[in-house]
Amino acid sequence: MERTLSIIKPDGVNRGLIGGVIKRLESSSLKILAMKMIWMTKPQAEGFYAVHKERPFFDSLTDFMTSGPVVVMVLEGENAIEKYRKLMGATDYKEAEEGTIRRDFATDIEKNVVHGSDSPESAAFEMGYFFNSFEIVG
Ligand code: CMP
Repeated sequence: MERTLSIIKPDGVNRGLIGGVIKRLESSSLKILAMKMIWMTKPQAEGFYAVHKERPFFDSLTDFMTSGPVVVMVLEGENAIEKYRKLMGATDYKEAEEGTIRRDFATDIEKNVVHGSDSPESAAFEMGYFFNSFEIVG
């Protein structure tokens, strides 16, 4: 069993896609262990995306991630990290496979509806960034 962090980004929340994303999660073998809606400050978003701080898109990304509320979730399942990344599709929705969340809903490489951890190390950091152990069920 593995755990991963999922975020429904401000574009997904604003466009009424929370239910659509959660439906796909619940139709897969991933289980939601924690969930909340938050509105990040710029420093909180910068801390979350610190690994990208040298990238040219860092400022734009952290502006976007603080432009409205997001839904953060902890998901659990066998190979949860890989499984959720498959459900999301490639970062660039134009390269994402048919039937993936990003292919179906994203409008932009930045406004790509969802985020998912990319490794066990980042999952541990990202889950701890938003949730304490009492908020994760199971
Ligand atoms: P995410 O999975 O949240 O991880 C980093 C985010 O940076 C990515 O999704 C995109 O929303 C955003 N981003 C913006 N521009 C780029 C880019 N050129 N390459 C990769 N990610 C980008």
